[in-house]
Parts: sequence; C-alpha cells; structure tokens
Amino acid sequence: MESGLILMNTISTHPGVDPALVPKRTLHTGARMPAIGLGTFGSDHVTAAEIAAAVIGAAAVGYRHFDCASVYRNEDRIGAALRELITGGIPREQLWITSKLWNDKHSEADVIPAFRQSLADLQLDYLDMYLVHWPFPNFHPPGCDVSSRSPDARPYIHENYMKTWRQLEKLVDLGLVRHIGTSNMTIPKLKLLLPDARIKPAVNEMEMHPHLQQTELFEFVRANGIEPIAYSPIGSPGRPERDRTPEDTVDIEDPVIAGIAQRLGVHPAVVCVKWAGQRGATPIPFSVNPRNYLANLLGVVGPPLSEADMAAIAGIDKNCRLIKGQVFLWKQDQTWEDLWDLDGVIKQ
Ligand SMILES: NC(=O)c1ccc[n+]([C@@H]2O[C@H](COP(=O)([O-])OP(=O)(O)OC[C@H]3O[C@@H](n4cnc5c(N)ncnc54)[C@H](OP(=O)(O)O)[C@@H]3O)[C@@H](O)[C@H]2O)c1
Repeated sequence: MESGLILMNTISTHPGVDPALVPKRTLHTGARMPAIGLGTFGSDHVTAAEIAAAVIGAAAVGYRHFDCASVYRNEDRIGAALRELITGGIPREQLWITSKLWNDKHSEADVIPAFRQSLADLQLDYLDMYLVHWPFPNFHPPGCDVSSRSPDARPYIHENYMKTWRQLEKLVDLGLVRHIGTSNMTIPKLKLLLPDARIKPAVNEMEMHPHLQQTELFEFVRANGIEPIAYSPIGSPGRPERDRTPEDTVDIEDPVIAGIAQRLGVHPAVVCVKWAGQRGATPIPFSVNPRNYLANLLGVVGPPLSEADMAAIAGIDKNCRLIKGQVFLWKQDQTWEDLWDLDGVIKQ
C-alpha cells in the first residue's frame, strides 16, 4: 500500500486520498476530469442501495468521478447519495458525474426528456457528461437472454445517430450538460461523426482491459482529441451469466498480471486498473467493497508500473471482448462481431 498517499479526508474520518492528488485528464474544453471513476453497474446482482452506499464510501476516500446510466436503474438511489455528499460539504464543481442515454430513447423527441429524468434522479442541475450508451437504437428487456432480438432493431444509421447527437448538442447549448460523448463506437462510426458533429465528443467510453486492449481505437480517439474511458477495466469478473461465453479469458488470472500483482503485494485487479490509467485511459472500475475501491484509487495515484511491466502487459492482449452486445443485433443470422465493424465497414 502506498502509505505516503493516505491522508485524512476532510469530510470523514476514513483514510483516503486527497482528491487534489488524483490525476486529471484535460478534455477538449479545458475541463479537467478525474482520471479514475467509480463504475455503478451492479451486473444484476448488486443492489442499488449497496451501490449508493459505495458512492458515499468512495467519495469519502477521494473519488469524485462517478459513471452512471439510466439503464443501471439506480440513478435515483445514487442521486440521494450525491445530495448527501453535496450537503455534507463536497462542492458540486468537485464532482464529475456522467450519465448515458439508453437505446430506447434515441428518437429526437425522447432525448431531452430522458436526460431530464436522469438529471432529476441524480438530484443535480447539470451533468458533467452525457453519452450515447450504444450507437444502436435497439431496445431489449432488462435481463433478457443474449439470443433475444427486437423486431424493431436496426443497424447503425448515421443520419439517425446525428439526429440523436443534435439533441445532445442542444443539451450543451441549454447549459444542462458540460460535455457530450460516445460509447461503444468504432473507428468507422467515429469517422462519420467527427466531421458532422458541431460539438465534438469529449470522450469515447470503450471496453478496455489487458485482454482487450483495442490499441487501434485507443490511438485513434486520442489522436482526435477524445479521451478514452476504459470500462470493465478489470475484465468484469462479476458480469452477468448471460454475458459469458466459454471462450472468454480472465485478465486477473493471467500469469503476467498475477506475477506483477504478487511482486507489488496488490490484487491483480489493481494491476489492471494501474495499467489502464498509466496507458492514458480513464478506468471506471466497479466495486462496492471499501478495501477494493480504495486499492483501485491508490493504484492510479501511486507509483507507476515499470516500463518492463507495461511492455509485458502490452504482450498479453487476447482481443477478448467480454461485453459483446449480442442483444443489439438486428437480424437473426448475425454474429456479435457484426456490431464492431471489424473489417472497417459498418455492417448494414
Ligand atoms: N459504456 C458501457 O457500455 C459500459 C459497459 C460495461 C460497463 N460500463 C461501466 O464500467 C464499469 C466497470 O465495469 P464492470 O462493472 O463491468 O467491471 P470491472 O470494473 O472490470 O470489474 C468489477 C468487478 O471487479 C471486482 N473488483 C473491483 N476492484 C477489485 C479489487 N481491487 N480487488 C478485487 N476485486 C475487485 C468487483 O467486486 P467487488 O465489488 O467485490 O469489489 C466487481 O465484481 C461499470 O460499473 C459501468 O459503470 C460501461
């Protein structure tokens, strides 16, 4: 444990990290986003109450960035936690709150009301960031099987995505959100969006962990002034059963990760989080365990991995996508790869 970084937090007696010491990413607007956030998706087995408690606990140890989404169905509980933090003395400007537009709210008339619902649930009067959660307007019932297909499901249609994006731009114009961004986008889709966006995406949230490094996309977004946010940075060991396939590999059991962890005296999860942050991404690990979320924060603030460790981790990419998105497919005879434009062409 990096004991030099353990400070007394001003709002509680918990040991933690001074939020001022947490590295920041400077976005294209000049705003500075904490370079680690707490994920809030309970993977169907962690309750909203536990996650809200983790938000309070994580803030007490120095987190200021929280990654939310309406589809996580806990924004109202998180909102109560945020209210408690703000009334307890954390200035609103110190918090970085992201939410996401769900796939059934892409149509022009639905975007702003959906945003306002998240804003009300989160008990805030502006958000720091609002993302289009997936580039497909395809709805599926919560918890459904991966073979489930909506009869209304469609491929990516750029003209329609731009109609959604214009509404996000309007939210910026209205002063309701400071930044807008994308999630689960590919290079071909971003190449269409970038020239058409009046307000460019500040971030792209993408699956990223040592076994899915997505180096080409990572470099593309950074070259275009977009900050990469690494979701499932630990390899989502608690993800729902429906999101598992026999081919999936386990980052935290990789001998390279486990070996570095053993040498440093940390859990392999912390090595994954450190790697993401040191690589230049903003990891958003989920945890409701105080020891774990503090260890992850210390991982990003503490001493860097050696160049040899970074090189060893660069060598273990297995291109193993865990969040495949099968439920967003629009035809029966497709495979999940069709969502990800692997040959550089957007599938229709
Ligand atoms: N944009 C998108 O489409 C999208 C998709 C997926 C996820 N996300 C976001 O990314 C966040 C993180 O992804 P994720 O939840 O899939 O998975 P993750 O962060 O890779 O893994 C979370 C799991 O790791 C465990 N863990 C965390 N820190 C640990 C530590 N230091 N030692 C041991 N175990 C540890 C947690 O258990 P404990 O609670 O017991 O610590 C939890 O089971 C989500 O919560 C969500 O906010 C976004």
